[in-house]
Amino acid sequence: MNQIIYLFLLAVSFCFSVQADTVERLLEKMTLDEKIGQLNLYSSPWENTGPIEGRSYVSEVRSGLCGNILNLINVGHVRQMQRLAVEESRLGIPLLFGYDVIHGYKTIFPIPLGLASSWDMGAIEKAARIAAVEAAASGINWTYAPMVDIARDPRWGRIAEGAGEDTFLACEVAKANVRGFQGDDLAEISTIAACVKHFAAYGAAQAGRDYHTVDMSERMLRETYLPPFKAALDAGCVSVMTAFNELDGIPATANPFLLKTVLRDEWNFDGVVVTDYSSINEMLNHGSAADQADAAAQALVAGVDMDMMSSAYVYHLKQLLTEGRVTMDQIDESVRNVLRLKEKLGLFDDPYRYCDEQREQEKQYAKEHLDASYEIAGKSMVLLKNSNQLLPLDEGTRIALIGPLATARGDLLGTWGARGNWEMATSVLDAMSQLNGHDRVDYAQGCGVEGTDISGFAEAVALAAKNDVVVMVLGETAGMSGEASSRSRIGLPGVQSELLEAVAQTGKPIVVLLLNGRPLALEKEQAFADAILEAWHPGTEGGKAAADMLFGKLVPSAKLPVTFPRSLGQVPIHYNMKNTGRPQNPVDPFPYVSRYMDCPNDPLYPFGFGLSYTEFRYSEIRLDKAELKPGETLTASVTVSNVGDVDGEEVVQLYIQDLVGSVTRPVKELKGFKKILLKKGGSQTVEFRIGEKELTFLRRDMTWGTEPGDFKVFIGTNSRDVKTAVFTLR
Ligand code: GLC
Repeated sequence: MNQIIYLFLLAVSFCFSVQADTVERLLEKMTLDEKIGQLNLYSSPWENTGPIEGRSYVSEVRSGLCGNILNLINVGHVRQMQRLAVEESRLGIPLLFGYDVIHGYKTIFPIPLGLASSWDMGAIEKAARIAAVEAAASGINWTYAPMVDIARDPRWGRIAEGAGEDTFLACEVAKANVRGFQGDDLAEISTIAACVKHFAAYGAAQAGRDYHTVDMSERMLRETYLPPFKAALDAGCVSVMTAFNELDGIPATANPFLLKTVLRDEWNFDGVVVTDYSSINEMLNHGSAADQADAAAQALVAGVDMDMMSSAYVYHLKQLLTEGRVTMDQIDESVRNVLRLKEKLGLFDDPYRYCDEQREQEKQYAKEHLDASYEIAGKSMVLLKNSNQLLPLDEGTRIALIGPLATARGDLLGTWGARGNWEMATSVLDAMSQLNGHDRVDYAQGCGVEGTDISGFAEAVALAAKNDVVVMVLGETAGMSGEASSRSRIGLPGVQSELLEAVAQTGKPIVVLLLNGRPLALEKEQAFADAILEAWHPGTEGGKAAADMLFGKLVPSAKLPVTFPRSLGQVPIHYNMKNTGRPQNPVDPFPYVSRYMDCPNDPLYPFGFGLSYTEFRYSEIRLDKAELKPGETLTASVTVSNVGDVDGEEVVQLYIQDLVGSVTRPVKELKGFKKILLKKGGSQTVEFRIGEKELTFLRRDMTWGTEPGDFKVFIGTNSRDVKTAVFTLR
């Protein structure tokens, strides 16, 4: 046996040494220009995802001064550019082709905030897997995803792109995405390199204004914002993208604490660090670099391997080397990181491996991809209200379908819709008409998504009056969330709220179907609606999934990954806040407590909230021990019963509160969840193991570990409606 193990290890070390040799041999041959070219990433003009830099990348690919390209789409162009690099440049080093494959490539899935709402890691992995298959079939070998920025401010448009407010859930989602994109073998032609972003704390931009300043304690950074990056890297993610924002006064793009201390020294990351779009140049605006050369030097020395669209490395590294402001070792190390990634992707073995026109045709919009998009859209829609069990609707019900997004198709794809074709999407109107009969679905737009025109109200109100049920499709366009899409108000845009109020005067039962990319403040609107279904921007098949859910062909099972505030005035508001020294007791009128005079402290809909068409009942929590010794684990269990009329899925959530610590602790923290399917009348005992991992936190001395004391365990259907038990850690 030992001999077999020895031979195996010998073979593995041989493979690694061959890989290293390939890169080292190449490095030895490279001129300084060619080395700098590998650290340069240009955008094709096919798509602009940032400020356009004037240089032509074609000639620089030929000269070896551009080793990587983003935003070049379709396999014909990729093959053409790869041929230029491989057959016309001196050393023939193949190119990386990057693209923002965030929630699908051609077949589009729900926006990431919707995917996270599924709390279904298998579904999230499957969506990323399909996205990788389609992107790779179009010549893409590197995606700038997953975006793992924790976000707690709905004004920030990029809240749409991540997994919401909670670190534990974001870690699980990050791992599922990396598994989906990268698979088990990056050299396999249907896998693509992932790039976890934006490192770090971009989601904490002040006032939710994109690109704004970020300033926080190291404790908050390490406990809340960094773990999803570590989770992605532990799952094997091979690259990291720096964030636009500054952190503690130093732009993340040249922040030695982030890029050296945390990423390389503490986490032993050996992959590629790429900047965000032109972010080296933006150090001049930040005021942390005197000129582009200074910015380039700071970025390289801090640990940035690749410069996306600043041209700072191409313009200045040679002179900086001459001046001794950077070293050849620093340049070589970054080049090695890039070459190793190309090696892992198998590009040296076959640079055209991702260039197969026939495969591109076969894979795009494959039926199983569209079916998955439909299935996962159905898993991502959150039922927020359902008074008098208005939903599901009976087929044959006469519907007044009203609202500016009832006919939306492109908007269904949401932000970062990649190469998704809006013509492949079915609007809610078409889906409901096909399902319920065109003669039983009357449509009126009522108003625009934005604007003040109320001339359509009368038609909408009249339509509502003559039908049985009103379904109003309201929310945001795809362009109202995502990058550079912060909103200073988080209500329904335009006069949609007024339209809802006008229609509500008819007294007809109203379903509000939301298509949006962020939590919205709906305290007034929710009173006019009997039912509210949060569908987010649900992807190519989302219109069909929403219609089927309204008619009960799909049963909602999703839960909010982010808090819905009553008003913007409560923001930031998230479930795992601190208790403060003067916590409010809502039933106690004593005024000297942490409260607002004009608004309750609790949100409209809490983290983890979501209803079903059936009803789940929880037993009290059972703990198999009341005391825990260090190193031991205990089991907390509940029995969940489906006491309703239909089968349904439930996300059973585990939260823990450390009642006393050397630093203050959140009132509760998500530490586990299980999504279970329960047939009607069925029940299941759900167990969670609680041990060192669940009780560890960043103690006062900035070391990770546990502290003895009392803990509360919460298990329930969301972060508010929970069963409670207590135990002691000795
Ligand atoms: C954009 C985004 C980033 C994206 C990159 C390339 O500015 O900030 O998330 O990956 O540029 O498109």
